[in-house]
Amino acid sequence: MCGIIGYVGEKEAVPILIKGLETLEYRGYDSAGVCVSVSEELNVIKKKGKIAELKQLPELSQINGNVGIAHTRWATHGEPNEINAHPHTDSKKEIAIVHNGIIENYYTLKKLLEDEGYNIVSETDSEIIAHLISKFYSGNLEEATMKALHFVEGAFGLVIMHSRERKIVAARKGSPLVIGIGNGEMFVASDITALMEHTKRVIYLNDDEIATLTPNNYSIKTLDGKEIDKNIDEIKWTVDQMEKGGFKHFMLKEIFEQPESIRNILRGRVKDNSVNLTLDFDFKEIEKIVLVACGTSWHSALIGKHFIEKLVRIPVEVDYASEFRYRDPLLDEKSLVVAISQSGETADTLAAIKEAKKKKAKTIGIVNVVGSSITREVSSGIYLHAGPEIGVASTKAFTSQVVALLLLSLYLRKEKNLSIDKEILDGLESLPEMIEKVLDSSEEIKKIAEKLKDKKNFLYLGRGLNFPTALEGALKLKEISYIHAEGYPAAEMKHGPIALIDDDMPVVFVCPKDDTYKKIMSNMEEVKARKGNIVAVINEKDDKISELAEHVIEVPKTSELLSPIVNSIPLQLFAYYIADFKGCDIDKPRNLAKSVTVE
Ligand code: G6P
Repeated sequence: MCGIIGYVGEKEAVPILIKGLETLEYRGYDSAGVCVSVSEELNVIKKKGKIAELKQLPELSQINGNVGIAHTRWATHGEPNEINAHPHTDSKKEIAIVHNGIIENYYTLKKLLEDEGYNIVSETDSEIIAHLISKFYSGNLEEATMKALHFVEGAFGLVIMHSRERKIVAARKGSPLVIGIGNGEMFVASDITALMEHTKRVIYLNDDEIATLTPNNYSIKTLDGKEIDKNIDEIKWTVDQMEKGGFKHFMLKEIFEQPESIRNILRGRVKDNSVNLTLDFDFKEIEKIVLVACGTSWHSALIGKHFIEKLVRIPVEVDYASEFRYRDPLLDEKSLVVAISQSGETADTLAAIKEAKKKKAKTIGIVNVVGSSITREVSSGIYLHAGPEIGVASTKAFTSQVVALLLLSLYLRKEKNLSIDKEILDGLESLPEMIEKVLDSSEEIKKIAEKLKDKKNFLYLGRGLNFPTALEGALKLKEISYIHAEGYPAAEMKHGPIALIDDDMPVVFVCPKDDTYKKIMSNMEEVKARKGNIVAVINEKDDKISELAEHVIEVPKTSELLSPIVNSIPLQLFAYYIADFKGCDIDKPRNLAKSVTVE
């Protein structure tokens, strides 16, 4: 949510900043802007819309300078227009800031500054920070920033420059920032993807820390001025993982990467009929497990609840991270709270983990991005190793999360001295192959998508383990094609959604050949009787299905617990192709952001 990049070095800053923004565009794309200091003057160029529009501005090529900051915005305060775009400056145009987060005491600060004669021009909460720093400035940007932030409540990832200081200052509370260490140059960004082209050596800022960067040096302090010595981490991702690799969209590439991402999460963890994880808690003390997540990750949590309760027989609660924190959850040292997050930066999930720690619960993370905020908050965890996920709609991270939750359940079973079913382990091993088979049928799925692309509403139905699959299928469709879609438990349909069914309503059934099969067939009959248009994801065709469903997508039969993974793939492809036929901006759907770092 909002992408930030800053540069100080010997090179031209503008091309580096623009390239960085392009890499970060998946975080927000309402407006974008850069600020570069030239001969002790700040040059700010901003534009509503995507970075491509900013890039076309001729004045951009006319600013030469080697200190600069830039921002791509996902609007919170104030509509997406040029005035509200970042960077924001103080009235004297000496200080420029880019900000990610929300300033909660914005109205109080605004009033205070206006009463003192400061002229605030935008509707954003961010601009006031530039004025506040200006108020305290007396020749040292770092000091002025520390003084100003003392008055600020809320969340910030903040990067600041001054026209007369050849440095960049970056401060963090709640919104992620990472420093990139180069040779004779330093970078700061909201995530590592923007740095990978320049350096692999990074330092993650923690909350209440401030960094000051000059071309050859950096210093990191707490916001109250104590020097800190921090570890330099090495980025493992490679630059080609950030390319589309011949695919039309990142989302399609990531769907097709799933055989590989599943192999990666299993590597070294399933061996000799057992599951090995490095988790730092004594399972025997745990009496209840709570899974917290948002969006797609929350759907994986719903599947995880089935796994853990079935295999380990411990009660599991699944919570939206945003709700969890505010309902005073019942937790103690016998609870385990598991945060599930692709980015590891989702503000609500991070806040949920902090709340869990306050209540003395044990915490672990199931996270893709190494070194992200959640991974630094939990005591241990399971990395997905899915590689960078750039498409805003999550695909490969989701299937890896489901596998991670199954591995966690099997590991807990082992800790309980219970045997692990060989069929599940074999199933896990053959999962990449199964997924490859589904991917082989992408052309057929595309044909079905073409036929249904103009429908206005969809219903997705599934039961048991595949009810979350239905929810996830519906979410994928609405996120990227803007078609209204609802996921529902198949049997619950008759308590409401059935009223919506007519001959213009496609109903997607997730219908594996398991204990729920016969029951789902009855639900299909109910839809058919009302002339609904059925798309069925099945394991094998039979006469009954052929009679009821207009469209059939066959996927290989797996062990029951793995079916949500295999069944999700055709639904990802189906949503993708519909959105592509409709000409949607699939990797950057309107109003969405890849990681939501405000609560
Ligand atoms: C955003 C994204 C979703 C994602 C959710 C949770 O809303 O658009 O695709 O599922 O955040 O993100 P996380 O990184 O915590 O899994």
